[in-house]
Amino acid sequence: MAPEVTTLVGVALLLVVCSPGSWALRIGQLHVPSPIRNGSVKDVILDCDYSLDPGEKSEGLVVKWFLNQETNPLPVYQWIANKIPQDLGVLRNRVDLMYHATDQPSTRHRALRILNPTIELSGEYRCEVSSFYGEDSKTKKMIIYVPEENLELTQSKTTVEGQVRLSCEADGVFPKPEMTFIKRSIEYGGGKIMDGAEVRVTDRKDGLFDIEADIVVDEASLDEGAQYAFGCELSIPDANYTLIEWENYEAISAAAPLSAGSLSLLALAAWAWLWSTAAARRL
Ligand SMILES: *[C@@H]1O[C@H](CO)[C@@H](O)[C@H](O)[C@H]1NC(C)=O
Ligand SMILES: *[C@@H]1O[C@H](CO)[C@@H](O)[C@H](O)[C@H]1NC(C)=O
Repeated sequence: MAPEVTTLVGVALLLVVCSPGSWALRIGQLHVPSPIRNGSVKDVILDCDYSLDPGEKSEGLVVKWFLNQETNPLPVYQWIANKIPQDLGVLRNRVDLMYHATDQPSTRHRALRILNPTIELSGEYRCEVSSFYGEDSKTKKMIIYVPEENLELTQSKTTVEGQVRLSCEADGVFPKPEMTFIKRSIEYGGGKIMDGAEVRVTDRKDGLFDIEADIVVDEASLDEGAQYAFGCELSIPDANYTLIEWENYEAISAAAPLSAGSLSLLALAAWAWLWSTAAARRL
């Protein structure tokens, strides 16, 4: 080959080597467990499964994990290849630093083995890998959830004739829950979400949430003679968690704050008063 050609080939090779993306440092999969109930497991493994180009050495390779809880991602773990990994921030003393994801020097400490995961460790985890040849990152949510201590649906008459109020309450939930009411025909089944509920969520000091909801039902909106059940659905969207508490409409009708006995006494008193005033006018 002529010297000019050799130089050209050399330059071309250099371009290929140095152009970004030609050496693939890529995260194929970021493995993060699906929602886990608080206190139910001893450990979880979050694995940042990247591939290096064949022949790429581990020199200059850095794996970092970040956790984003509302504001900014904060570093929680760092491993510089051929060094000892470090746990940082909220993961300080909560990671098994002896854990090996693989036997390869270039991927050995890429994963997080978190011991006794609790709700404070919920959030978006980001793995960042970089080397002399490139970098890549991926993000996934991990949710440690707490189901409700109680879910209670109660019913009462409102001060307006022909109206029923449904009230529902759940305490000690994580992460943020939602609540809806459902109307179902006992004969035909199915279920319809009811519009117009008022929902209040309370953020507790211990990090858990309380939630309560109210809705007023016009008895006129129900088909006469049909049998209904009302449901209160508590859900934790991030945790893919749902629970429904059902109550029959008959139970609602019986839930008048005044008993039949006290109602007839009241009617008697009103009648007596009307009669006495009328009698007084006649005199
Ligand atoms: C979560 O689980 C831990 C035990 O792993 C327990 O100590 C803690 O009280 C639990 N938190 C809640 C809110 O249930
Ligand atoms: C939620 O649950 C449904 C049905 O059980 C499942 O298909 C879906 O993948 C789950 N989603 C998450 C985020 O876990």
